[in-house]
Amino acid sequence: MSTEGGSRWWPASAFGAWALAWAALQGASRLGAPAPWPVLLSLATVFALAACHRRPWRRWLVALGWPAALLLQTAAVPAWAWAGVGVGLVLLYPRRHWQDAPLYPTPLGALDDLARHAPLPSGARVLDGGCGAGDGLLALARAYPGTVLEGVEGSRALVWACRWRCRSARVWQGDLWRTDWRPYALVYLFQRPESMPQALAKAQAELAPGAWLVSLDFPLPGMEATQSWAHGRHTVYLYAADRWN
Ligand SMILES: C[S@@+](CC[C@H](N)C(=O)[O-])C[C@H]1O[C@@H](n2cnc3c(N)ncnc32)[C@H](O)[C@@H]1O
Repeated sequence: MSTEGGSRWWPASAFGAWALAWAALQGASRLGAPAPWPVLLSLATVFALAACHRRPWRRWLVALGWPAALLLQTAAVPAWAWAGVGVGLVLLYPRRHWQDAPLYPTPLGALDDLARHAPLPSGARVLDGGCGAGDGLLALARAYPGTVLEGVEGSRALVWACRWRCRSARVWQGDLWRTDWRPYALVYLFQRPESMPQALAKAQAELAPGAWLVSLDFPLPGMEATQSWAHGRHTVYLYAADRWN
């Protein structure tokens, strides 16, 4: 199972891996395999399936999720606690965003060079599309102190966190792909590679001449960046809307 092609199977591929690990554990125990072989077999199963995921964070999540569940089971975690974790996850990530980018914050200084390459006048409107808990907005606030910062986020819980952390920004719950990008002088994205064709089409349709699209780590497909530069492990890609208007 190559799951990156199969990233559309995410998060089903994670639950499938854990279900198979559970089946291996139960099967080996029922066949009379002595301890610790059932556990070892279930771990081998989940590690092999985790390795099929190309993205490191998914690999780690699948690989560590099963041993964590085994440990919690030995700690006799009550059923209501598991239900609480489930409800918490759904609150944090509504089902339709599970296929989209997960929460992964922009490092605080990652956008410090942005204003040098893409200067904006005071009062310009800047949107963080998928603003998470507000780290991108905090980085944008450092880069562009005089601008009007706005953020749209799919997860209600993250909207609350973001509003609390970024008091001066306007933050609302919504879909970044349904948000009109036309009023913005700059749209910032930290999404995932699979979203970038959609980002390109939307930017081409909606960004005004003179506006900018900035993407952390994931370039627009088939489009040469106006500028790109590294910040630690990250790369900032900057696109001038004039390029395609
Ligand atoms: C990698 S995080 C980036 C968070 C923030 N922009 C930052 O840089 O710190 C991606 C965020 O986008 C949100 N997201 C993904 N798809 C979305 C959509 N279609 N509409 C709104 N938010 C979305 C996720 O919930 C997640 O919080």
